[in-house]
Amino acid sequence: MLQIDDVRVRIPVTGGRWVEAVGGVTLSVGSGEIVGLVGESGCGKSTLGGAVMGLLPSGSQLSGQVLLDGRDLRGLTAEEYRRVRGNDIALVSQDPSASLDPTFAVGAQVAEAIRNHRDIGRREARERAVELLRAVGIPDPGARYSDPPHRFSGGMKQRVVIAAALANDPSVLIADEPTTALDVTIQAQILHLLRDLTVRTGTGVLLITHDLGVVAQVCDRIAVMYAGQVVEQGTVRDVFADPLHPYTRALLDSQPAAHHQSGDLPVILGQVPDLTDPPAGCRFAARCARVHDRCTAAPPVVETRGGGRVACWLHDALPPVAQEAS
Ligand SMILES: Nc1ncnc2c1ncn2[C@@H]1O[C@H](COP(=O)(O)OP(=O)(O)O)[C@@H](O)[C@H]1O
Ligand SMILES: [Mg+2]
Repeated sequence: MLQIDDVRVRIPVTGGRWVEAVGGVTLSVGSGEIVGLVGESGCGKSTLGGAVMGLLPSGSQLSGQVLLDGRDLRGLTAEEYRRVRGNDIALVSQDPSASLDPTFAVGAQVAEAIRNHRDIGRREARERAVELLRAVGIPDPGARYSDPPHRFSGGMKQRVVIAAALANDPSVLIADEPTTALDVTIQAQILHLLRDLTVRTGTGVLLITHDLGVVAQVCDRIAVMYAGQVVEQGTVRDVFADPLHPYTRALLDSQPAAHHQSGDLPVILGQVPDLTDPPAGCRFAARCARVHDRCTAAPPVVETRGGGRVACWLHDALPPVAQEAS
């Protein structure tokens, strides 16, 4: 349903220069599927989400295709995109307070999300909003309908945002670090809620996170992004059992759970390269434990087990990824 094909995004910065925030990403999210998009800060995850939502910084250049249920979103006018947002695709971001109007009742905001896209009466919208608030676990939703956001905790606010995002049964939900601001037990509750709701409705989810534990808990597939590119993707089971890209391995090794006994948390040395001037060849080469001569050239993208793919010279004996029919 969501097919991202060779998407590139350049964002203008000062001095007539550009940041290549996304450098040729191909990725899909199927119906009812949750795909975890991981990578360090600054790797282009949010910009890729923005490219799908039609919400890029002004002056940005976008190339490639973003197909939603076969329809190319790139050609849409601002007005058409506004209609698609909240109806066919929806966004849940890190800070629920930023998504809610502080001066309006939470229930009215969910009802408005429905009425913006459907020709239904106030009363019906209110009833559906109460139902949605119940579905996301707001206790006594009929009574809480009229409360303003500040009467809700962070976790409860994020539940309201999720209710509004799912109000019109979107095909795809982009969830950008939806639980990062919440405490750990609430995080798990919200993620499982998100999973239950979307699996039931068939909504596909692109779950952006820097937390591999989150991916292990709720995702079907994982895509690992480094310096604007997806370096490895596959099923969660395959990639966690046997990460093929040295960056994926380094990320997995740096997760706290893997090293709780030694108390020594390995970090990945070095930094994500400056994307105003991305390095030629493999972008991870400067930090890679297994770098060798060939890494000065762009790595081949090859097919791995279970329909996965990896972009790394260590695996160039695997079959190249077939050209996608589009
Ligand atoms: N509005 C913007 N103006 C300039 N550069 C930006 C802007 N948004 C993102 N970038 C740059 O694009 C790159 C990717 O950023 P982002 O998509 O936010 O990464 P992530 O979500 O993975 O942390 C970074 O180098 C970041 O500095
Ligand atoms: Mg981000």
